[in-house]
Amino acid sequence: MKTPLTTAKAYLQMLELLLDENNEDASLYAKKANQSVNRLNELISELLDVSKIRLGKLNYTVTTFNFNELIESTVENIQLTSLTHSIIKTGQVNDTVTGDKDRLQQVVINLLTNAIKYSPGAEKVFINLAQEKDSITVTVKDAGIGIAQQSLDKIFEKYHRVEEHAVHFQGLGIGLFISYEIIQRHHGRLWAESKPGKGSTFYFTIPVNSNL
Ligand SMILES: Nc1ncnc2c1ncn2[C@@H]1O[C@H](COP(=O)(O)OP(=O)(O)OP(=O)(O)O)[C@@H](O)[C@H]1O
Ligand SMILES: [Mg+2]
Repeated sequence: MKTPLTTAKAYLQMLELLLDENNEDASLYAKKANQSVNRLNELISELLDVSKIRLGKLNYTVTTFNFNELIESTVENIQLTSLTHSIIKTGQVNDTVTGDKDRLQQVVINLLTNAIKYSPGAEKVFINLAQEKDSITVTVKDAGIGIAQQSLDKIFEKYHRVEEHAVHFQGLGIGLFISYEIIQRHHGRLWAESKPGKGSTFYFTIPVNSNL
């Protein structure tokens, strides 16, 4: 779909290309503007997802795909955007998975970007895959600021942000709400364990074959 934002983005990318060879400052400026438009694009599509969830209209497209490859390419993409953290992937899923590939990728992106965002002092975040008979478990672990026990259930609620974090980190508090909805639709479970100051571990389990 061609929205004003996609047009603006195309324009900025063109500008970036034009300026690339000529002027380093201008090129940097264009890159920053491009990043801002990207971020705005993501925010708008997250807000749209929230209103679709409210109306029960979040659409799912089911296919059968290689889960390892999905995670590997997602990790590669996020690694490109982080200069501060290395993402370490371990484990694997042997069978193909049936579910909504893009929506499951959205969950993994949310968990990995949170792990990076909320562990400013750390150098690594970890993602592990495991398969047990007919279900798979994805674990995303960081050594970051952690979450107090009393907030652990609330973080999956719409617009909930841990008060102490909200001052220091930008966000709307909807990434985990959307992720929770997606995993529920796959008949799975999403949960977290954490200790303040020690880091957090997020888990989700879904059936290998989700009947959405
Ligand atoms: N890995 C983590 N470590 C510590 N706190 C976390 C972590 N992941 C989530 N949180 C807490 O849970 C809250 C909700 O997370 P969520 O991803 O829904 O929102 P957000 O990151 O604030 O904004 P966005 O909507 O852009 O994702 C966060 O504001 C933060 O307080
Ligand atoms: Mg988030």
